[in-house]
Order: sequence, then structure tokens, then C-alpha cells
Amino acid sequence: MSNKKIIAVVGATGAQGGGLVRAICADPDSGFTARAITRDVNSDKAKALAALGAEVVAADIDDEAALTEALRGAYGAFFVTFFWAHMSPEKEKAEARIMVAAAKAAGIKHVIWSTLEDTREWVPLSDPRMPTLMGEYKVPHFDAKGESNKLFTEAGVPTTFLFTSFYWENLIYFGMGPKKGPDGALAFTLPMAEAKLAGIASEDIGKCALGIFKRGADFIGKSVGIVGEHLSGRQMADAMSTAFGQSISYNAISPATFRGFGFPGADDLGNMFQFYAEFEDVLSERRKPEQSRALNPQLQTFAAWLAANKSQIPLE
Ligand SMILES: NC(=O)c1ccc[n+]([C@@H]2O[C@H](COP(=O)([O-])OP(=O)(O)OC[C@H]3O[C@@H](n4cnc5c(N)ncnc54)[C@H](OP(=O)(O)O)[C@@H]3O)[C@@H](O)[C@H]2O)c1
Repeated sequence: MSNKKIIAVVGATGAQGGGLVRAICADPDSGFTARAITRDVNSDKAKALAALGAEVVAADIDDEAALTEALRGAYGAFFVTFFWAHMSPEKEKAEARIMVAAAKAAGIKHVIWSTLEDTREWVPLSDPRMPTLMGEYKVPHFDAKGESNKLFTEAGVPTTFLFTSFYWENLIYFGMGPKKGPDGALAFTLPMAEAKLAGIASEDIGKCALGIFKRGADFIGKSVGIVGEHLSGRQMADAMSTAFGQSISYNAISPATFRGFGFPGADDLGNMFQFYAEFEDVLSERRKPEQSRALNPQLQTFAAWLAANKSQIPLE
């Protein structure tokens, strides 16, 4: 029987958790094995993880008893919530409460909780610079995660608070890639003026998490920010111009204009970009590329990520 420690991974068929399962399976000397948690053990994505050597178990994070069972016998757990599946900060906080209870019941020795800043610490609800959303949030998908941090601490769950960054994959899957204007010229739009955006290849999040599990005790009770690079919209547009071999300009718009795009979540994301821009120093102080690279020597730069992924970015 293997004496490796089991890491149970929520969101294992998704971006963050999938990266961690793949990182563990690719590193036979890590001392860990991966247990992938999914709602559907028969999906193609779940089967692909099993083929890499992961144990695959079924649980829905809304079901505390099922999640507790899925964690039993594991040393570590990686927890991420899925805001965009329901867009409810209240539900996201409920999911975090279930994760805390399940980790405690299962006696998990090291949790990595994928979180983000509670922006209200810097922009109180009374601050008119950006609208208050859903009655009590500035950036709902940040604030619900940040507010949940204390649940782990209060319950005495040994936790590392992993502060992630903007996925560069949003250029592929979230409609944020360069767009052609009426004149046919390509432009990359971001509501951040010349401020820098903390960005990362989503696959690197799991690789950094494995680095944290390997150094266990160093990181329990600590907050760790991870980032690939801090780049302005202009720098990102220039890197894309180089990668695609054609001119892509930077189209700096205001956060208010972005909020007005009107798609579901546009107001949340407009506030998020405004927070990234106006609190650039806060974000970069916590997220150091050198520390992320120390955890994950394969950490990608934006240029390297573009070279590997540009064929998937639609230039429409
Ligand atoms: N996009 C960004 O730039 C960015 C940056 C930082 C943080 N985030 C945060 O990242 C989070 C999402 O993580 P992700 O991108 O890794 O997710 P993802 O790629 O969308 O994957 C979600 C996976 O989670 C599983 N899942 C969904 N609902 C579940 C449930 N009720 N119980 C169990 N599993 C469930 C699904 O797996 P099955 O179908 O197999 O069950 C799915 O494959 C969000 O909260 C978001 O705010 C995003």
C-alpha cells in the first residue's frame, strides 16, 4: 500500500483544481497522490484524470456529508468555489462554510483555500467611487471569498489562504480577447488606464498549490498571493502584437463604461478592474512573481503563455 499522502481536490475537472491534480500526477516524487472530487465520475474530464493516475470520487460541494466522506483519509484538501456557476455571494459563502465543516470533520491537516481580497477593506460600502452591488458588496466574487477567510481561522482548520490572480485564459473563454473595430483594426480593451493587472496562466495555480503542499508547515496559517506577471493593458496588447505578428492597440476605457456593457456580471467585473487598478500596490505587494516561481519553477510569463495558447484566442 502506498504511504503517500492524499490531497483531495475540489473543482478537479476545472481550471484551478485540474491544474493541481495534473501537477501531482506529473510529480511521482512529490510524496502526494491526487483524489479528484467531481459531481460526475463518468465525465470525459473525470476519466482523463483517472487515466493520469488520480483517484476519482463523487461529491457535490453543496452536500456536507458527501464532501466529508470524499475528504476522509486525506492529508490535504484544495478548496475552490464556483461563483460564476450561480453568481451568488451568499451561496459562495455557504459553500465555504460547508468546506470548513467537512475539513474539520475529516481531520484534514492542510487546507489550501483559493480566495481573493475582500475589497470592502479598502473600499467601504460608503465609498462612492464604485457602486455597491447586491446591497452589501463592491466586488461580489472577491468579497464573498475574502469574507469567508475568517471561517477557516475561527474553526481552527489549518489553512493556507491562496490569493489568485486574473486568468489569462479569460482572453480565450471569457470574451476578453482583442476585438476588431469598425475599421477592422484589432484592439484589446481593459478599464485600467495604465495600471497593471495581476495575471496568471490558470494551470500555474495548481502547480503553485502543489509547491505549497510540499512545504506544508511553512505555509499553514499564512496568506500567499500568486501571479505570473503584473502587466498593463498596453503591455498585454504589445505582447499580443508580437505573438500574433500584427498590430493590436490598447483601448483603455473607464470602469463605468465596462460596467455599462450590461452582460451578467459586467458590474462586478467593472468594479473588480477598478479595484485592480486603484489598489495595484496592495495587489502587487501580496503577489510576487519570484515567490510564485519559487513554488512553481514552471511558472509561465504572459509571452510564454501566448506562445502556447494564441491559436485559441479568437481575433474577431
Ligand atoms: N476567471 C478568473 O480570472 C479567476 C481568477 C481568480 C479566481 N477565480 C475564481 O475561480 C473560481 C472558479 O474556479 P475554476 O476556474 O477552477 O472553475 P472551473 O474551471 O469553472 O471549474 C469548475 C469545476 O468545478 C466543479 N463544480 C462546479 N460546481 C460544483 C459543485 N457544486 N460541487 C462539486 N464540484 C463542482 C465542476 O466539476 P464537475 O462538473 O466535474 O463536478 C467544474 O469542472 C471562481 O470562484 C472564480 O471567482 C477566477
